[in-house]
Formats: sequence, structure tokens, C-alpha cells
Amino acid sequence: TWTAVDTYTLTHSHPPSRPNSSILSSTLTTSHHSNLPNIAASHAQAKFLALFLRATNTTTALEIGTLGGFTSIFLASENPQLKITTVEVNPEHAGVARRNITAAGLEGRIEVILGAGVDVLAKIKEDVVTGKREKFGFVFIDADKENNWNYFDVAAGITRSKGVVVVDNVVRGGRVVEEGVTDTRILGARRVIEEVGRDGRVDSVVLQTVGEKGYDGWLWAVVN
Ligand code: DHB
Ligand code: MG
Repeated sequence: TWTAVDTYTLTHSHPPSRPNSSILSSTLTTSHHSNLPNIAASHAQAKFLALFLRATNTTTALEIGTLGGFTSIFLASENPQLKITTVEVNPEHAGVARRNITAAGLEGRIEVILGAGVDVLAKIKEDVVTGKREKFGFVFIDADKENNWNYFDVAAGITRSKGVVVVDNVVRGGRVVEEGVTDTRILGARRVIEEVGRDGRVDSVVLQTVGEKGYDGWLWAVVN
């Protein structure tokens, strides 16, 4: 039912979001044929983020976890003013993403940095501190869940005041509140929720979500 409702509402949205634009569907097809896992953001969630960035006139975004580039391509193609820096640790994924981004004609606005999130974020932070890079208006954390808090901790410092940091997949079918959980991805979700909850730099909320990618949720934080 969740998938059927996503399909129905996307089909009836304006401008039409289903069937996919050829750029987005070829991004997903290429990702599928390159054996990337089917864990990109849902179409509806990517559209929601795109609308949010448009409504807030956001011009700079950082993504941790590029995968095949679906979210970056979606956000950049819906927002002509937006420049995205996206970080991917897996060279094969980064390669697929770069090919998809080039095919979409977005290589001028989406920069894929190959490297481990923690290392690349440290470098980006240095660039922000030394004035080589501006702070970001939006950060989307969607990578290895074990490092959620490490990513958030740096992200909050390189996001401008009133900018937003989102952490994907913090509910995981409700397993976030199950006792005796040993899955390190769930523990990573819990850690970021609890640390962000006592982080004086931000105000935040976790929103549970359902849709074509199942039952999950994301954490939204506004930087003070
Ligand atoms: C997984 C990761 C994601 O970023 C996501 O949106 C869904 C699932 C995963 O690793 O299982
Ligand atoms: Mg995700």
C-alpha cells in the first residue's frame, strides 16, 4: 500500500514526477545494472528535499553517501541555483555516480569526492575554517550508519546558521527502539538521535516515514 500510494500521488503531482524523467530513470537503471544496492532515497523523499531546498533558496549542499548519484541528480536538476558536494567511499559507486552526473549534464554543479566520509569531512572543515569554502546551507547524511554521529558532529559546524542537517534512516522499521539490538547500523541511529538531542548547536526532530522504501524515518536539525 505504501508503494501504491507513492506511485499514485507522484503520478498526479505537478510537474509530473511519474513516470520518471529520462535522466532519473536512466540513473536508476545504470545503478541497477552496476549492481548497486537499491537503497537510494525514494522518489517522494528526494522530491520533498528538492522542494525544501527551493523554498529556502539554498545554494550549497553537502551529501555524505553518493551511491549512484540519484539524490544529487534529483536535487540539482530541480534546483538550477544549487551546487552539491557529494562524498562516496566506494570507488565503483563513485564511478557510476560520475557517469550518471555527466550523462545528466550536471558535472558543473555536482562534485563527487572519493574518500572515507570522516577523512573528507575533516578536509572540508579545514577548507571552511580557512575560508576556502563557504558553509553549507544543507547537509544530507546518508552513508555508513555507524558514523552518523561523527558526520553530524562535523556537519553541524560547517552548516550556516538556519541551515539544515538531515540524517537518513534513523528508524529502520522501528528497530531503533527494540531492546537487545546488536546491529551496528541501529546503534548508529540511536547514537545520533541521542547525541543530537543534547547538542546545543541545533534544534531537531525525528520524523517517521513510510513509502516505497518501507518504514523508516529521518532526523532533521536546524543549526542555531
Ligand atoms: C540502507 C541504507 C540507506 O541509506 C537506506 O536509505 C536504506 C537502507 C541500508 O544500508 O540497508
Ligand atoms: Mg538512506
